[in-house]
Amino acid sequence: MGLARLLSRPPRHDPVAEEEPMAQVIAFANQKGGVAKTTTTLNLGVAFKEKGLRVLAVDLDPQGNLTMSQGLNPDSIERSLFDVLVHRLPIEEVVHEKEIDVAVSSLDLAGAELALSGMIGRERALEKALAPVKHRYDYILIDTPPSLGVLTVNALVASDGVIVPVQCEYLSLRGLVQLENTLSMIRENLNPNVEIQGILPTMFDRRTLHSREAIEILEENFGKLVFNTRIRKTIRYAEAPVKGSSVLKYDPSGAAAEAYRDLAREVLNGAKARQHA
Ligand SMILES: Nc1ncnc2c1ncn2[C@@H]1O[C@H](COP(=O)(O)OP(=O)(O)OP(=O)(O)O)[C@@H](O)[C@H]1O
Ligand SMILES: [Mg+2]
Repeated sequence: MGLARLLSRPPRHDPVAEEEPMAQVIAFANQKGGVAKTTTTLNLGVAFKEKGLRVLAVDLDPQGNLTMSQGLNPDSIERSLFDVLVHRLPIEEVVHEKEIDVAVSSLDLAGAELALSGMIGRERALEKALAPVKHRYDYILIDTPPSLGVLTVNALVASDGVIVPVQCEYLSLRGLVQLENTLSMIRENLNPNVEIQGILPTMFDRRTLHSREAIEILEENFGKLVFNTRIRKTIRYAEAPVKGSSVLKYDPSGAAAEAYRDLAREVLNGAKARQHA
């Protein structure tokens, strides 16, 4: 066959790509620690699942908090995302079926930064690992560590959108500029499509002026990017992981669970609005 004919031939039929919709991939990122990235990844995931959606949560943090909060012990886990990213183990092999599917972390994931540093394509290791399972899920939610190192970069490269949980405190707001700079570098070099999908005010205490002012500053600077949902400060969010469960399972009819159901509705409506735009 001549080269011209070969080039004009229609692409080969790919049943998976054509028939099965692909998961929306969202990273939960903020290099500041303790702002509710993990809490949001898990509880939003479970809220999606309640709506009948298929959800995979990816614990990309060597601290393994998401893994722990589903009752799994990162210390006794034999194969984790470390093996997926560094040794190309298929991601299915580290997925545990809990309230939602969880691709687990373990302490050795801390060594992934170093192990990946010499590898070509190190920023795309997670994107590659997710590709074969993307048609099995509606949402893939990636929890990231409190840094902007190679693990977080992998998450941002693999994602369509980023949700940024922000503690309602003035000092927490400053870190957002650095995150935005990292995102523009990722867009220029690695993933032109990734964008902030929303900023989520967390640990909101409406009794304090400071909390209300923090939200005002957020809205002045980021406008519509700030979700309408506010996640209030309550001990429920700390209690649930001790029982190895989401707050939606731990206290299904409580306000803490309802807040993440509100967020799920808001994210789904935003996704619909974008489809029709
Ligand atoms: N809305 C909330 N009100 C009160 N406590 C909360 C709230 N959300 C989360 N927490 C608690 O605050 C702590 C930090 O939350 P979480 O682990 O989700 O943050 P993180 O951003 O993932 O932290 P890290 O940066 O260490 O990964 C946890 O003990 C969690 O249970
Ligand atoms: Mg965390």
